Amino acid sequence: MAVIAGNWKMHHGPEEVRGFFEKLDIFDVPASSELIIFPPAVSITTAVQAPDRDPRVMIGVQNVHWEALGAFTGETSSLMAAEAGATFALIGHSERRHVFGETDEETARKAAAIVAAGLTPVLCVGETLDERRAGAVDAVILRQLDAALDHLSKGSGRFLLAYEPVWAIGTGETATPADASAAHATLRGRLEEVLGVSKAARVPILYGGSVKPENAAELLAAPDVDGVLVGGASLKPESFAAIAAASG
Ligand code: PGA
Repeated sequence: MAVIAGNWKMHHGPEEVRGFFEKLDIFDVPASSELIIFPPAVSITTAVQAPDRDPRVMIGVQNVHWEALGAFTGETSSLMAAEAGATFALIGHSERRHVFGETDEETARKAAAIVAAGLTPVLCVGETLDERRAGAVDAVILRQLDAALDHLSKGSGRFLLAYEPVWAIGTGETATPADASAAHATLRGRLEEVLGVSKAARVPILYGGSVKPENAAELLAAPDVDGVLVGGASLKPESFAAIAAASG
């Protein structure tokens, strides 16, 4: 089973969302693959209610605040996202960490809120180019995982990880399948230490960073890669469908 997720970032308002689902054809996608789209918060309800959305395509929220409600102008809470019909939530995306300065501690608080609201968290981790050059890939991704792992494994216990090297996001640079597998094995090893082997085996670890129809099949075939988190190439229904079809 593979998970194919599309992170639309700040693209696609409600009108474009309807058009996307009108055109999305997932006929060739293996029945065992799980599909998730993360639209901007203002488009979640439209995505959930889109008459042409195949119910196999689940909807998630890209970011939440750690509180359930309150005086936090401009923020979205997990509970509200759940009420709007989202069932997944991204946390710790590299743009949240590096553009908006989110810390490991804030990411952990968000993980707790997401689990409490009954959403399935997808924790993103990944190193910058400088960190990779300094030989710190494992140290960075394990630090990011450790900060949130306690919260992630509570509740229903289902959660996903996404390894997204910062240098590969939106740059056209893709990690090699071997790079992705190595980082995924590091993450899996930590999950095994903390959760035990059988629970750890049930946590899908996705790769993200310049995934496109041309490279999806080889990344998805790499050991320990259980799916992909796609940014730019998920915006067009044809390319998202082509990537999902490669998950067979
Ligand atoms: P990209 O983005 O596919 O455009 O590189 C991936 C992501 O940020 O999740």
